Amino acid sequence: MALKIIDYKDLLKAENIAVGVVENSSARSRGLPPGLEAEIKRFRQIGDLKGKKDELYVIYPAGKGPRRLILCGLGKSEDLDIEKIRKAIGRAIKKCREIKQWNLTIAADSFALGKVKTGNAAQAAALAGTLALYQYREYKPARKAEEKIMPFKLCLALREKTVNIRQIKQGEIIAEGANFARTLGNRPGNRLFPQALAKEAISLGRKYSKITVRVKQKPELSKQGFGALLGVGSGSINPPVLIECIYRGGKTGQAPVGLVGKGITFDSGGISIKPSAKMDEMRYDMCGAAAVLGIIQSAAELKLPLNLVGIIPAAENLPSATAYRPGDILTSLSGQTIEVLNTDAEGRLILADALTYIQRFKPECIIDLATLTGAVIVALGHIAIGLVSNNDQLSDEIKSAARDSGERVWRLPLWDEYRELIKSEVADVANISSKSGAGTITASAFLEKFINSMPWVHLDIAGTAWGEAGAIYSKGATGSGVRLIMEWLIRKAGK
Ligand code: BES
Ligand code: MN
Ligand code: ZN
Repeated sequence: MALKIIDYKDLLKAENIAVGVVENSSARSRGLPPGLEAEIKRFRQIGDLKGKKDELYVIYPAGKGPRRLILCGLGKSEDLDIEKIRKAIGRAIKKCREIKQWNLTIAADSFALGKVKTGNAAQAAALAGTLALYQYREYKPARKAEEKIMPFKLCLALREKTVNIRQIKQGEIIAEGANFARTLGNRPGNRLFPQALAKEAISLGRKYSKITVRVKQKPELSKQGFGALLGVGSGSINPPVLIECIYRGGKTGQAPVGLVGKGITFDSGGISIKPSAKMDEMRYDMCGAAAVLGIIQSAAELKLPLNLVGIIPAAENLPSATAYRPGDILTSLSGQTIEVLNTDAEGRLILADALTYIQRFKPECIIDLATLTGAVIVALGHIAIGLVSNNDQLSDEIKSAARDSGERVWRLPLWDEYRELIKSEVADVANISSKSGAGTITASAFLEKFINSMPWVHLDIAGTAWGEAGAIYSKGATGSGVRLIMEWLIRKAGK
């Protein structure tokens, strides 16, 4: 745990303090000592500080107290929401880095304004702070002396410390789950191949007594008929695996929540090879799998009283003399045959077998996370996760959790007309649509063929799983899905 919660009386000992400021100039910053309040007022009177959202100022109070106040504009207090707080904290941390400051104390009470309660503001700060501090440096560790000896120290000061501590920890644990997913996502294909991903799951199992991990290797997959997963993995020297990651936090016998994550450790497209431009980004094609592991880690860390089954089909999609080809017909674990018309539509193939397999655990519902289609980016950009489901209640639950989680989802329809498009003349189903358009939905229609009438939500995270640096995230993987599903699970567990 990197985040330190300190007593409010120690606030003035901090070197750098982040303070929330709102648009109304007569508003006082909640919970600040009068001396600092006066400093902010003085600065406000100069006229630069308006308190608008996205605004950020560093001011230098006189006297013995803190050296710097990082003033974070929040907009009008009556319009304040959790996401504005998260973004403000993200920006404050980026600012510290820019000015080479390696510590920040967040005055949490000053962010709890309007409808936002202190606990929620503090949780948002803990979550956003932990996400914003993340950097992927596995293969380029800090070399500059100052960064080495000064790992960033993040503190959170608030008046009612004990009341809110549980919420703060929760924010931090969710962010750590997302950061774990980000590290796996960011790790390149030569370092994170299916077997290496399995190893990561196994280490999770070693770390938490309530997590059990089993890995099916190729011989077992062949014997048991995982024909779709094996087909996709056939072009690579790195064999495919199926990772089974079970968390038992609930009662024995209680139906688990089923989670499936697409684990294509690199997607070249296979024989239907992708263009070279940006092909490197296909190292992120296992971000669904990473999210599942991040979620299970966070659930275990929070000791959520429920059972989870995570299934990760992992493979590398490469062209070679042994690769599967366009036109091939695969027999999936479900027994249904699949005509492969494009080897680049591989995600749905490995998910097909995983969806069939997970039903053996009799889950109450299934959620799959996958960087499945470029089409979801056409539809929703990099802003929202595409959601497709066979169940209104479950989708509504996920949509509602999304509103608080800071991740966005948007549901797309799954009508019969779309189901028509994946029919095949020679097999039970084709792996791509016979017509162009609605690629995210036709992919979902394909997945649905492997669900035997049970509540299921498919999350297409292709647009949100990685990106450019923003207010909170650094460039690279985002851990998309972890915050969303954790919010939903926490509500479900009634925590
Ligand atoms: N992993 C890709 C989807 C993807 C593409 C994610 C771009 C993020 C950015 C997936 O395996 C894929 O290649 N999908 C194809 C499907 C098509 C062949 C029907 C796509 O979206 O182009
Ligand atoms: Mn592909
Ligand atoms: Zn893919």
